[in-house]
Amino acid sequence: MAEPLPIGVLISGGGTNLQALIDRSADGSMPARIVLVISNKADAYGLTRARNAGIPTRVIDHREFSGREPFERAMAEALREAGAQLVCLAGFMRVLSPYFIRSFHGRMLNIHPSLLPAFPGLHVQRQAIEAGVRFSGATVHYVSEEVDAGPIVIQAVVPILPDDDEHALAARILQQEHRIYPLAVTLHAQDRLRIEGRRVRILDAPTRPDAALLNPPGA
Ligand code: GAR
Repeated sequence: MAEPLPIGVLISGGGTNLQALIDRSADGSMPARIVLVISNKADAYGLTRARNAGIPTRVIDHREFSGREPFERAMAEALREAGAQLVCLAGFMRVLSPYFIRSFHGRMLNIHPSLLPAFPGLHVQRQAIEAGVRFSGATVHYVSEEVDAGPIVIQAVVPILPDDDEHALAARILQQEHRIYPLAVTLHAQDRLRIEGRRVRILDAPTRPDAALLNPPGA
């Protein structure tokens, strides 16, 4: 069997997506091994999750650098030293410069809590509720220089319910994030993804032409 792909994970907060990646790596269902977790915040709970799993961590605090590029150079160097071949942004809340993005072109994934290209940016669950859409969801995409706009690998759809506030919706979306991020990493690690312009072709992907959802579901 092929060696698991060494990956680095960048976080800023609670790290539930990181936990999903840790768990799927540990149970062998995702052929990747987390070699480094970097947080730009020293108090991010995700760091504890990584330490509990015996994964090396680094705190690289953007406020300790004179600008974006030295901060990102420090992260890039740490990732290279650790041997990371794929970088996963998992609730990493800093916008990255073209320098960093080009360094990991085609080798950096992000997860975002909306059905991109709808609702990029921040407070996206609130935006979705206020827009009155019946569905939202989560997207894993390759990172491109345009924020929240890179080639899409996988999406999960959830209904928006009449009584939802942004917290209820965020929790429903997060459950699906934990399913699709390990799947996206798996597809990348299996070398089954081909970036073709704005689109990603998946080799040997199952299709379900009848997989339509209605909300409300109807009678
Ligand atoms: C997740 O919902 C993720 O999609 C979002 O932050 C949350 C992190 O949760 N990311 C973004 O909004 C990036 N633009 P976690 O720390 O529990 O994984």
